Amino acid sequence: MAKVLVATVKPFAKAAVDSIRQVCKDAGYEFILLEKYADQSEFVKAVEDVDALIIRSDKATKEVIDAAKNLKIIVRAGAGYDNIDLEAATAKNIVVMNTPGQNSNAVAELALGMMVYMARNKFNGTAGSELKGKKLGIHAFGHVGSLVGEIAKGFGMEVYAFDPFIAKEKIESMGAKAVDTEEELYSTCQYISLHIPANEHTKKSINFNLLSRMPEGATLLNTARKEVINEDDLLRVFKERDDFKYVSDIAPDIKEELESNFGERCFFTPKKMGAQTAEANINAGIAAAKQIVGFLEKGDTTFKVN
Ligand code: 3PG
Repeated sequence: MAKVLVATVKPFAKAAVDSIRQVCKDAGYEFILLEKYADQSEFVKAVEDVDALIIRSDKATKEVIDAAKNLKIIVRAGAGYDNIDLEAATAKNIVVMNTPGQNSNAVAELALGMMVYMARNKFNGTAGSELKGKKLGIHAFGHVGSLVGEIAKGFGMEVYAFDPFIAKEKIESMGAKAVDTEEELYSTCQYISLHIPANEHTKKSINFNLLSRMPEGATLLNTARKEVINEDDLLRVFKERDDFKYVSDIAPDIKEELESNFGERCFFTPKKMGAQTAEANINAGIAAAKQIVGFLEKGDTTFKVN
């Protein structure tokens, strides 16, 4: 009987766990749950004899992967898989997948909510501004980015996008104005919403050159990864521009410094919560479980990322 471990420091909604359990039961698999573990060593111990693993932002390090003697597949129930040591997994012939698109709507809704929150001065009672008529630049037009664009149009925003991996015609057919360079996006848009993954090309790529170009009343919105920001440059922009705001679902390393000096102009969620809705948990959790069944039963490798 194959063993499936769901290891989540930040647990799924109960309904999602129940659904994953059911998919495993129907397939004749044993279901094991490790939630809210306090120490990585608990995760390392739990993987020892499992065949399949479902995680969220949990760190599937080389230590975890090496400890997992029978592991054949890891599914990241979500989009970003920068928390998984792909090299270590590939070296052990372990298939790694994500579940693209399954939690995107939750993240997109949060992005718009955070935009309104900052435009209205964090609901502090002073006169803020409206999103209507403002230019929003979407940096990477994948599942989340394109949904943010769609919702923003409902607010009457003008939506621009930059994505070197998607044809301009496709971007335009989805209702955004495609621009040719990152520089053009940042120079044009008062609001920028980040949807790039964290990898060796993007880490620290959101820098002074880009941020300093943003028009008056700039707001940078990050529901992607903190690693893509050059934090020294971010701090410099905060110091040089009193109109600049930063709102992020992932607190930066310089959180305290930003909050104590520029508290009115920044906001960070206490815990990454973009994908933290029952719907997103259920969608991503069920997709992950079904992908495991598809792989173990039929060798289906759709959504393999390594
Ligand atoms: C993702 O990459 O899917 C999001 O960042 C959500 O991550 P989470 O499942 O850890 O909330």
